[in-house]
Amino acid sequence: MHYVTAGESHGPCLTAIVSDVPAGLRVSEKDIDADLQRRQSGYGRGGRQRIESDHARVLSGLRFGVTLGTPISIQVVNADWRNWQDRMAAFGSRPDDLVREVTPRPGHADLVGALKNNTDDCRDVLERASARETAARVAAAGIAREFLADLGVDIRSYVTRIGSAAYHEENPMMQAPDYSPLDIEMSDVRCPDAAASDAMRKAIDAARDQGESLGGTFRVVVTGLVEGLGDFDAGPNRLTGQLASAVFSIPAIKGVEFGLGFAAAARGGSEVHDPITRTDKDGFSRATNNAGGLEGGMSTGMPLIITAAMKPIPTLAHPLATINMDTMEPAEASRERSDVCAVPACAVVAEAEVAFVIAEAYMRKFGHDNMVDIKSALQDYRLRIHTQSR
Ligand SMILES: Cc1cc2nc3c(=O)[nH]c(=O)nc-3n(C[C@H](O)[C@H](O)[C@H](O)COP(=O)(O)O)c2cc1C
Repeated sequence: MHYVTAGESHGPCLTAIVSDVPAGLRVSEKDIDADLQRRQSGYGRGGRQRIESDHARVLSGLRFGVTLGTPISIQVVNADWRNWQDRMAAFGSRPDDLVREVTPRPGHADLVGALKNNTDDCRDVLERASARETAARVAAAGIAREFLADLGVDIRSYVTRIGSAAYHEENPMMQAPDYSPLDIEMSDVRCPDAAASDAMRKAIDAARDQGESLGGTFRVVVTGLVEGLGDFDAGPNRLTGQLASAVFSIPAIKGVEFGLGFAAAARGGSEVHDPITRTDKDGFSRATNNAGGLEGGMSTGMPLIITAAMKPIPTLAHPLATINMDTMEPAEASRERSDVCAVPACAVVAEAEVAFVIAEAYMRKFGHDNMVDIKSALQDYRLRIHTQSR
């Protein structure tokens, strides 16, 4: 299952096309919109989220709420387009009074994108480089998520740090799968701990007061996975690399860890690797999950736990120094309406990216055509593994 998106931040709409979708999958418009809503929310978001009320409009590939096995196109309208129609028109000439963006923001695609594409207006770049595009990714991933839910796979995320305010967990690799989704979603920073949520909100308030911005860390947790997704036979087939690439494709992601991640490098092997266990009832398992659900580039059947780091938002109320591309003189970077912190939203985008990789891994292993055949292949595989491990 793959997706492609099109659309500018202030264009009429974002579009996503999801291909290689199996037939016979029930899709709920309400569930996709709920994910779009989760991406829009979060303490620290900027004014744009008050303008938009994202809704996924499915234009093809579904009949009576069930997939046809054909490409699914989804549209998410940009309500802000009404304020930009003249400046973002697809045809016609530039308005005489158009204000070009000539003071590129450090930390954004503005400068390198403008040089690379030979434009004198950074808006030609920033409109597409904007994280507004991630709304289309979340809408597209609604299909992958429904597919995975039908196979018993659940994907969620929670925030572990915003700036210096951290949620200190005793043993996150064992605890994370048990956090209540309700506790996470009831927190406007998407952290399951009330005291840590409070500290994170305070950090955001302090940053806003100082004209500062913040990044942070979050985890994506996937449960219900079958063992053996991905492969050990060749680098590109390793699920580990595919997941890392997908999470790194999100703007502002600067680190991705699996299981203990970087902390594993400071420990001895006996403190890191997960002893293999077996019971007659459940077959093979692991006593711990420091590997975060991956061994040898494949899923182990234990919860998949990915931690990612997001850099602070680059658009600042007190802009950093830059160079005016018209005059080549020092200047202040331009200011777009901006989030102070978008870590809770970024975690939802990461869920979407992970959903596509896992969905594709299931389809590679259990077939592509229709849900009945895929589920039956999965059931046979599970039975074989279960029998073999008893
Ligand atoms: C969900 C989300 C929301 C974001 N919101 C903003 C924002 O409001 N203002 C901003 O300057 N950057 C925002 N960013 C970050 C930029 O998109 C990102 O820093 C920029 O594209 C460059 O990142 P890169 O160097 O990692 O590619 C957001 C990122 C995400 C994932």
